[in-house]
Amino acid sequence: MPAAPSSDIPLFDDNALADPYPLYERLREVGPAVRLTRYGVWAIPRHREAEAILRNPDAYGSEDGVALTTLANTQILTGTVLASDAEQHIRLRRVLSAQLAPRAIRRLVGVVTARAERLVEEHIAEGGFDAAALAQHMVSDTVMELMGLPEETREYLLTGAAATFDVFGPDNERYQRALPVASRMVEFLHEAVTRETVAPGSWMGAIFQAVDEGRMEEKAAIPLASAYTAASMDTTILGITEVIAQLARHPRQYEQLRREPAHATSAFHESIRLEAPIQGFGRMVTKTVEIGGVRLEAGEQVWLLYGSAGRDRLSWGPTADVFNVRRRRADRHLAFGGGPHLCAGIPLAELQARAVLRALATRCTRLTIAGEPVRVLNNLLRGWGHMPVAVEHAPRAVSRTADDATYVRTPANADEQGAIS
Ligand code: HEM
Repeated sequence: MPAAPSSDIPLFDDNALADPYPLYERLREVGPAVRLTRYGVWAIPRHREAEAILRNPDAYGSEDGVALTTLANTQILTGTVLASDAEQHIRLRRVLSAQLAPRAIRRLVGVVTARAERLVEEHIAEGGFDAAALAQHMVSDTVMELMGLPEETREYLLTGAAATFDVFGPDNERYQRALPVASRMVEFLHEAVTRETVAPGSWMGAIFQAVDEGRMEEKAAIPLASAYTAASMDTTILGITEVIAQLARHPRQYEQLRREPAHATSAFHESIRLEAPIQGFGRMVTKTVEIGGVRLEAGEQVWLLYGSAGRDRLSWGPTADVFNVRRRRADRHLAFGGGPHLCAGIPLAELQARAVLRALATRCTRLTIAGEPVRVLNNLLRGWGHMPVAVEHAPRAVSRTADDATYVRTPANADEQGAIS
């Protein structure tokens, strides 16, 4: 066996979080598994090996392995869908699988499209808008409605979700600040979310129903709810903000999207390939394995760098750093994970992104960055908290306000409507 490659790069310092790509490139050059001496884990910076690990849950478990600290793994995340394996994972994942399946999400097309059109019209009315505010409005309205949670939980969920992702990281200052915020969110959910306060027929209603039918334990209900809300809010908000920013920076790509609105979904995938909203997650090695000639023993931890895998030239070729809405099979990226823990919310994330992009493409001939964006610094999340964008209105912009669920056929959604009729 060759000597184990290692690196002492400070992957979670502010400078690294602001621009991790040079560090990722160094790690990819060092090898497919690189010991990060500061954090005691093996970084997996290349696409191929990260994907193989995701697809091998027998050797790489999520239980006690998704976060970087023992406290988060054994006390905060234990028993959640994300941090469970095998039978328990299947049982928890099944609770909401009917609600998240593509068929169920297709039924939401009308409501989500109408919401995107209304919000885009409101936000672009003055000629400029904050893409992060638009995305937050869009996603939090959708998630609150689907989850059926009482309105007073919205603020807790929005601040608590980002804190939850900080808690997945190493025990740094950011982690220490986030711990009380994340636990306050869970405490508040325990108080505010009951069978009486959730909307009938909602996702939360389905969780309580699963408890009542003996398919899961009562004590798992709120952790499951917070996992779903944390997983679905910031990730999608950051993903939608980023794709708008990419289109504003690349006017030709935006023109391409306007010409062929069917590229909206691939534009979204391409954008999260380049800028994964979740930069990494861990796995626990459960039996002796070998990665690129390096032996890892049970009890060691790997850190899958989704954000680095998306830039890996070995998998994406010489244009790995380029934003191209027509890239073939951009959806092979690992920004949604892979294997049994593959993101359960892909159809919903895609639907919301597509609806916003098409609403913009119909109404604006050009987007440009119109000020200084503000980056979110988080141990796991990557994206923008503020992204000022100026628009040029299309000459015959549709000025319809859709405050109900009526789905009106526009050039931008015509092919989608065909698909569901
Ligand atoms: C751009 C948006 C999103 C991104 C980038 C994203 C990313 C991810 C990633 C990387 C994982 C895999 C975790 C792992 O490796 O263990 C994951 C899992 C998950 N996601 Fe998403 N997600 C997004 C949107 C959503 C939405 C809208 C939902 C809606 C409910 C959702 C629900 C979940 C759930 C429940 C899991 C856990 C699945 C499991 O452990 O079996 N996500 N997501």
